[in-house]
Amino acid sequence: MVSDKKEPFVIRSRLFTPLDGGGSDEYLYYDDGFLVVGDGGRILFVGSELPEEYAHYRVHRTQHLIFPGFVDAHVHYPQVPVVASYGTSLLEWLDKYTFPEEIKYGDSSYAGRRAAQFLTLILARGVTSAAVFSTIHQVAFEALQASNRDLGLNLVSGVTGMDRGAPDALSVDIDVFKDINEKAIETSRGLERFGYAITPRFAISCSDQMLDYCGQLLESDQSLLMQTHINETEDEILATSELFPNAADYLEVYDSFGLLGDRSLFAHGIHNTATEYERWALSGASVVHCPTSNTFLGSGLFDADGYVSRGINVGLGSDVGGGFSLNPFVTMAEAYKVAKLRGQVLDPLLLVYWHTLGGAKAIHQDDSIGSLESGKYADFCLIDITSDEVGFEMWERAGTVHEKLFSLMFLMPDSKNRVVATFTAGVLRWQDETEPGF
Ligand code: GUN
Ligand code: ZN
Repeated sequence: MVSDKKEPFVIRSRLFTPLDGGGSDEYLYYDDGFLVVGDGGRILFVGSELPEEYAHYRVHRTQHLIFPGFVDAHVHYPQVPVVASYGTSLLEWLDKYTFPEEIKYGDSSYAGRRAAQFLTLILARGVTSAAVFSTIHQVAFEALQASNRDLGLNLVSGVTGMDRGAPDALSVDIDVFKDINEKAIETSRGLERFGYAITPRFAISCSDQMLDYCGQLLESDQSLLMQTHINETEDEILATSELFPNAADYLEVYDSFGLLGDRSLFAHGIHNTATEYERWALSGASVVHCPTSNTFLGSGLFDADGYVSRGINVGLGSDVGGGFSLNPFVTMAEAYKVAKLRGQVLDPLLLVYWHTLGGAKAIHQDDSIGSLESGKYADFCLIDITSDEVGFEMWERAGTVHEKLFSLMFLMPDSKNRVVATFTAGVLRWQDETEPGF
C-alpha cells in the first residue's frame, strides 16, 4: 500500500465522469473541477466551485485528468503469463497454454506472487474494480483475497469450476467443489469490498451435477453473482450441443440449471441466435464484451447493436490471457474497431460508460461505484494527458468531450500520456514512480 491516508482531501484538476442517470450520454466534464473525498473514502462533492464547508480541506492541485476507476468485468488472474500465446483458437489455446499454467496455482506461493502481480498491473492501468476468474484451487482463491488485503481493490471473484474436459489436476469431485465454494463464500464475507461470484468455467467443462449445484447455490443466496462464458466460438458451441443434446441452444443450457438471471455475467456472447438474444433480454443478465480476446483468438465479432437495441446491459472485460492487454483504453479502442468491422459506430462515451457504469451494473454495485458522484466510493485514477505533445494537442483541439475521449482511446496506449496514480476508497494505492507523491 502506497499510503493509508484517511483524512478528507480535495483534488483540483480537469475532471470527467459519466453519470448514472440511465443514459450513456450523460456526463460531467470540467476544465477546472473539484473532487472532495471524505474520511470514509466516499465522495462528498464533485463540481466546478468548492463549497465553503470544504474550503479548509487540503487541496491537491494537478494537471492530470481525474477519471473514474475502470471496471474490468471479466479477467482471469492466473492467465497473465499466457498473454500472447501464438497461433491457436479457443479450445486448443486452453489445452496448450492455459490449463498447464493454471495447474501451477495449486502452489500457494506461486499463486500469491501472481495474484499480487496481477492486482498491481491492473491498478497501474486505472482499474479499481474487477470480476476475476481464479482457478479450481482453494489456495489460488485465498491468494487473491490475501493480496487484495494490502492492495484494496473492489473485487468479485470465484473458484473456477471444472469436473470434465480438463486435465485431472484441474478437475474436482462435486463434493470437493462444494466444500471449496462454501469456504470461499465464508471467507469472502469477512472481507471489505470482496464479493463472491459462482464461477462454472463454461458448460463443456462442467457436468450436469456441477451446473445444478451452481444454480441451486445462486438461488439460495441473493448476495451471490454468477460468471461464465458463452457463445465464444463455433467449435465450443458445437461441443456444447453434443454434450447437452436436449437444450435448444447454449443459453438454454445455463437457463435449465438456474444460471440465467439478473445476477449473471456472461462473457463474449458473440454467436447468439435471435432466440438467445430475446431470452437474454428478458432475464436481465449482463454481457461482458471482451474485444481484445475476440480478435486475438479469432473468435468473432461482437454485435453491439444486438445488445444495445434490446436494452441488455454491457460491461467490458480484458479477458486476459485470451485478451492481450489489461489497459482499459486498449480494450475500448478494440471494441470500437470490432464494431466498425460490423458496420457499427460506437460513441466513445458509450465505451467509457460500458467500462465504468456498465461493469458496475453487471456486478450490482452501480449505487456505489462506476462514476464520480457524491456518496459513491472515491475510486479514481489520474491520467497524464499533457506529456505527449501530439496527444495533448489533439486533446486541446477537440471540440467536444466525445472527441477528447476518443483521442485518449487511440493515442494514449502508444504515447507518453498514461495513468499516473490510482485511488480506491480515497486511498492512494498505486502511483508512477516518476510522479511526486500525494
Ligand atoms: N472459455 C472457457 N474458459 C475460457 C478462458 O479461460 N478464456 C476464454 N477466453 N474463454 C474461455
Ligand atoms: Zn474468459
